Amino acid sequence: MPQTYFSERLRDLALSDARVPRGKLAADVGAGTGFITTGLIRHGLKVLAIDESLPMLRVLRIKTLSISDLCFFIGCAERLPVRKCTVEYVFANMCLHHVSHPAAAIGETARILNEGGTIVVTDLDAHAFAFLTEERADRWIGFKKSDVQA
Ligand SMILES: C[S@@+](CC[C@H](N)C(=O)[O-])C[C@H]1O[C@@H](n2cnc3c(N)ncnc32)[C@H](O)[C@@H]1O
Repeated sequence: MPQTYFSERLRDLALSDARVPRGKLAADVGAGTGFITTGLIRHGLKVLAIDESLPMLRVLRIKTLSISDLCFFIGCAERLPVRKCTVEYVFANMCLHHVSHPAAAIGETARILNEGGTIVVTDLDAHAFAFLTEERADRWIGFKKSDVQA
């Protein structure tokens, strides 16, 4: 899916904007099969990969069998299974438009973040392709940047 729906350039930009230093701990919310997680690992971070889908995390687990700096959590973005003030970075790529309560999900990213940490949300801009809510598991037709920031 990343190859057709969003590109590696997005991941490169997200990681370079966040200036992720080696050795830090990041959460990847809605990690799926690990598009962002594997990028973070390559940059030398430790990662908590969180997703509500066991099949997705199974695929990621198989891809990363030899990697030790990675933990898997089945959980919901609106109620993350992580203690407050745990991670230095939270990434959520193409997850927000799937969740029922995006504001709660963003609130959760802030809760698990250490003081001075960074949240990187990459998702769809507001768009007019409402059929995606019927043909895919999309719940939201993208977001206005101002709403995400608010
Ligand atoms: C479009 S995929 C993106 C996966 C990955 N972030 C990537 O960049 O390839 C969306 C992912 O969000 C997960 N997801 C959807 N709703 C979720 C929720 N409420 N809580 C946690 N994960 C969720 C799905 O299971 C899926 O793996």
